[in-house]
Amino acid sequence: MAIEFLPSRRALMLGSAQAIAALALSRRSPAAETLPKMTVTRDPSCGCCGNWVAHVKAAGFPVEVVEIADVSPLKARLGVPDDLTSCHTAEVEGYVVEGHVPAEAIKRLLIERPQVRGLAVAGMPVGSPGMQVSGQAPQDYEVIIFAAGRQHVFARYRGLQQL
Ligand code: CU
Ligand code: CU
Repeated sequence: MAIEFLPSRRALMLGSAQAIAALALSRRSPAAETLPKMTVTRDPSCGCCGNWVAHVKAAGFPVEVVEIADVSPLKARLGVPDDLTSCHTAEVEGYVVEGHVPAEAIKRLLIERPQVRGLAVAGMPVGSPGMQVSGQAPQDYEVIIFAAGRQHVFARYRGLQQL
């Protein structure tokens, strides 16, 4: 399978203006959104994973949670690079979403549909969704788009705000 970071043909045909219009429309009417189901695998003893699940649910994703003591075999099976690992691992529409990725970035991925494995926020940056700590300033962090042997910056955020 050819791995590219270019938008898929469909996304190119759709055109970025229309894609942005579609996103704007979905933002205007969240109740009418039909977002695909997301499966989140997490360690039940880790609280931030639950906070992140609340974040993606609030953004409109239907979520199924799978609790398991050790998520690392799944990460390996799904091809999450070691340097991008975090706590929970989510799967949506054939993509992998590793760690505290903002829901907004996942929605963009699902509109653009590049041929990649998925998105990741490595580690647990303070201020990322599910990692808000009262009294601590949010860190800047990167959402990385990855495929076999390749990683690029997909977006930069501070807290829930894209930079
Ligand atoms: Cu976490
Ligand atoms: Cu966690």
